[in-house]
Amino acid sequence: MVKRVSCSRVVVVSLLTSAIIGFGAESSRADAAKGEGVFEAKKCGGLCHITQGPATEKTFADQLKKKGPELWYAGNKLKKEWMEKWLQNPAVIRSLEYNSLEKKNPGNHPKLGKDEAGAVTDYLMTLTSKDVETGVINPKSSLQGKIAFEKRQACQGCHQVEKTGKVVGGMVAPSLVKAGERLQGDWVYAYLKKPKVFKPVKRMPIYEGYLSDVDMKNIAALVASF
Ligand code: HEC
Repeated sequence: MVKRVSCSRVVVVSLLTSAIIGFGAESSRADAAKGEGVFEAKKCGGLCHITQGPATEKTFADQLKKKGPELWYAGNKLKKEWMEKWLQNPAVIRSLEYNSLEKKNPGNHPKLGKDEAGAVTDYLMTLTSKDVETGVINPKSSLQGKIAFEKRQACQGCHQVEKTGKVVGGMVAPSLVKAGERLQGDWVYAYLKKPKVFKPVKRMPIYEGYLSDVDMKNIAALVASF
């Protein structure tokens, strides 16, 4: 008797749970569709942000035509919570204008309202690449990672980082200050490991052959811990 009661309770609870999960999935799909509409209406696509992968750029001229970073793998690269906040209050990540080595970034990225930002985030999170394996990198600061990042490759020569509370490093690349709030470690690893997939033409050096797979994993875990 007692058994039967608890059994039916289980059924009710599991029915409720699946209804809630099902509803959640439905509404997030609806938001993604709404977000895609906002993205188009605000003209975020085209040469500003490419949402269609894989990458087609072959020459430096192709890269220079782009006005902003491609987003066709945004769902693997960026953190959802960060994206939603950033779209409402876009702080400068690249000190210099996209593709420029001298012009200062004017920091005039369009801002979105809260609802729009939420919907666009849901849309961008659906854009993923089969070349990013998820669940591989756990954020972690290690001595091996630091040696590879700071000493052997001097990544901070181009990227800003935080060191004992101070921002130091180069300005020609996106800042990696608090990168762990913004970037997914699995994507950082994939970016180092498969540069041709994500950036066939770029100013950042290619580390294939210079860093071992373990180094790349340690560096990705370190960046994700920033
Ligand atoms: C010679 C300069 C240079 C060096 C050295 C360099 N990078 Fe970069 N890096 C760049 C540039 C430029 C970009 C931006 C590419 C683009 O999006 O067009 C970049 C992009 C990145 C990104 C993506 C950031 C984002 O927000 O899109 C990561 C992560 C990264 N680099 C990590 C590293 C690591 C780790 C090292 C060292 C192993 C390193 N970089 C060394 C120039 C450099």
